[in-house]
Amino acid sequence: MSVIQIDEVSKLYGFGDATTVALDEVSLTIEKGEFIAVMGPSGSGKTTLMNILGLLDKPTHGVYKLNGRDVSRLSKIRQAKQRRDNIGFIFQSFNLLSKLTVIENVALPLAYKGTRSKKRLKTAERVLEQVGLADRDSYLPTQLSGGQLQRAAIARALVNNPSIIIADEPTGNLDSVSARVVMELLSEVHKLGNTVIMVTHNPSLTRYADRIIYMLDGSIVYDESSVVGDIPSRVQRAINALRKSDDDEKLANVSAMMETIPDSSKTPEKTDTKKKRKAAKKARKARVKKAKKSESNAKEKSEAKK
Ligand SMILES: Nc1ncnc2c1ncn2[C@@H]1O[C@H](COP(=O)(O)OP(=O)(O)O)[C@@H](O)[C@H]1O
Ligand SMILES: [Mg+2]
Repeated sequence: MSVIQIDEVSKLYGFGDATTVALDEVSLTIEKGEFIAVMGPSGSGKTTLMNILGLLDKPTHGVYKLNGRDVSRLSKIRQAKQRRDNIGFIFQSFNLLSKLTVIENVALPLAYKGTRSKKRLKTAERVLEQVGLADRDSYLPTQLSGGQLQRAAIARALVNNPSIIIADEPTGNLDSVSARVVMELLSEVHKLGNTVIMVTHNPSLTRYADRIIYMLDGSIVYDESSVVGDIPSRVQRAINALRKSDDDEKLANVSAMMETIPDSSKTPEKTDTKKKRKAAKKARKARVKKAKKSESNAKEKSEAKK
């Protein structure tokens, strides 16, 4: 059984003319123990996808099965329970509570679970040791460096012993040394048999992953397996092209480059992908039109009622 299976999941924001299709009928199956790197330009829907997979948000359409169970339409409370028992979430901006000490932050998810205070602190201390932060347990978040904050956030994500870790650009705010420490931690968690799904803009971090997904305009445009320790050739070409181009803007948004690097070894497939994308775009436009139409119909109806 797959740990995660989503089927034609869409997420729409806004109404009428201002509708944004953040996710466009995305289907994805994730097996236990995979380490997936998700790339794609800003606005391509990566965070929206992570929030849905992490049960922080619900899809507008489509089905989400977590460990074989349909969780797409659960109540907020049941959703939170599923999240607590299965998922650890790591954010780019750490999201630690500033008035609580490090150990209190880490122990917090256990409080929601109803674990006794003594046991909570003991478990939190053990996880803090695991991330190398035991000596900072009584510090406040403001007293820690960015790298330490992210390690504390990882400890908080791990404290419930979840089997799925979702990390949305976990190294986005870190210097390269701290980023490496964070990646090594995620890698350890992966090696223990857990599933890791990580959004990153940094192509060199794809070396930790065994599967790479590229998103564009709310769709998955590539989904390829990779060998841990290797950077896939497509990503490597993008890095090389960037070294030559010296273009700051492209550097900031490196994954957008994937689209423009010709893949000489796979030319037929590429034309194929291009065609598919064109068709998908057309279908997407039609769907948005349809959604808008049904929305305005519904509006008319409700106004007629009045
Ligand atoms: N809460 C929201 N309300 C309206 N639009 C949103 C919201 N969240 C995301 N979007 C839009 O959805 C699209 C995808 O966003 P996001 O998932 O954050 O992309 P990424 O993480 O790849 O940068 C963007 O066009 C963004 O502006
Ligand atoms: Mg994002």
